Formats: sequence, structure tokens, C-alpha cells
Amino acid sequence: MTPAYRLAELGDIPALETLIPLSARKLQVGFYTEAQIEGAIGTVFGVDSQLIRDGTYFVAVDEGRIVGCGGWSKRKTLYGGDRARTAPDPLRDPATEPAMIRAFFIHPDFARRGIGRKIMELSETAALAAGFRQIDIVATLAGAPLYATFAYATVERFDIPLPNGAIMPVVRMRKTAAPSD
Ligand SMILES: CC(C)(COP(=O)(O)OP(=O)(O)OC[C@H]1O[C@@H](n2cnc3c(N)ncnc32)[C@H](O)[C@@H]1OP(=O)(O)O)[C@@H](O)C(=O)NCCC(=O)NCCS
Repeated sequence: MTPAYRLAELGDIPALETLIPLSARKLQVGFYTEAQIEGAIGTVFGVDSQLIRDGTYFVAVDEGRIVGCGGWSKRKTLYGGDRARTAPDPLRDPATEPAMIRAFFIHPDFARRGIGRKIMELSETAALAAGFRQIDIVATLAGAPLYATFAYATVERFDIPLPNGAIMPVVRMRKTAAPSD
């Protein structure tokens, strides 16, 4: 069945908190070690409820169950869930700063069915409609192939230190919209 797509609601948070670790533990195998995945769950990989409150986070729903999530941000934070942040997250200026693609997690049983692609399309369309002309992503090594298909280019590689002492290599990717987009 083809999933339905809608904006996430705060009531979805418990389901998202179940989905995110499930997705990371299965779909990041081969890209990261178990220590890296477990170290990232809860902080780097977690729900950012500000995106839900902003109306910039999407879910894919199949037979009433959330099977994918992801979105974009007009705020300064580059990555991470609520537990990685203590201060308010200021807005970005669309005229001078990029929007961010944020927090894509697909249920392992629904991987490679185009859900990530569809949520990317929804996110890019919304970010451009909000006036952004550049979009950045701090991509996991697992996410980078999806974003590359959307013509994002690698601009930087860096390591995120994790609470358990592991280090997670990530890729900053960028796309600049053509004036007619
Ligand atoms: C990365 C992720 C979001 C992709 O979601 P998905 O719904 O499976 O992706 P799609 O089916 O839309 O894939 C679209 C295209 O992206 C590319 N792609 C996606 N996953 C890929 C993978 N594991 N390896 C290589 N290419 C991949 C392919 O070109 C694919 O097209 P194809 O299936 O016709 O070959 C998913 O694997 C995931 O949730 N991973 C774990 C969490 C994570 O790391 N998220 C990224 C955070 S930045």
C-alpha cells in the first residue's frame, strides 16, 4: 500500500521515539558500528519537537502506523533531538542562510520504497516556498546516497563526538536553487 503523508503532530512523538532507534539500528548497519549507532541514539538521533511545532516535519503513515519521518528546518540547529539542546533555537534568515534538511528515519520494513525520496520532495518544496534559496544537510553516511540523488554536493566532512565516547563521521551537503525554482 502507498503511504499517506502529513505534517507531524506533537501526539506522534511516542511513535517517532520508537521508530528512530529502530530505523538507525537496522538501516545504518554497514555504515556505522554498533557503538556509533548506540552512541547517537537519543541525542544526535532523536525527535526535535521544534520542527513539529514549526510545521516543517512530515510523517509517512501506512495503515495508521508511522513508517517514516523527516523534514526541514528554518532554525539554526544543524542536527539532533530535543535532548541535545537546552536553549531556544533561533530562526535563520532565508535571504542569507540555508534551510536545513533534518532527521529522516524510515522503518526498515519500508526502506527503498521511495518514502525518503517523497519526504525530500515535500521538504524541498516547503523550504523554497518559505523563501530559502540554499538547503544544507548534515547527512549520516547512510543518508548521503539519498541526498546525492537530489543533486546535493558534499561541502565538508566532520566528526560528531558522541556521549559514549564514539565518534560519528558525517557529511555536510548543500544545494543552491536555480533562480527559477
Ligand atoms: C537514508 C534513508 C532515510 C533512505 O530512506 P528510503 O525511504 O529507504 O530511501 P528511498 O527509497 O526514497 O531511496 C531513494 C534513492 O536514494 C538512494 N538510496 C537510498 N538508500 C540507499 C542506500 N542504503 N544505499 C544506496 N543508495 C540508497 C537510492 O538511489 C534510492 O533509489 P533506488 O531505491 O531506486 O535505488 C533510510 O535508509 C534511513 O532511514 N536510514 C537510517 C537513518 C538515517 O541515517 N537517516 C539519514 C539521516 S541524515
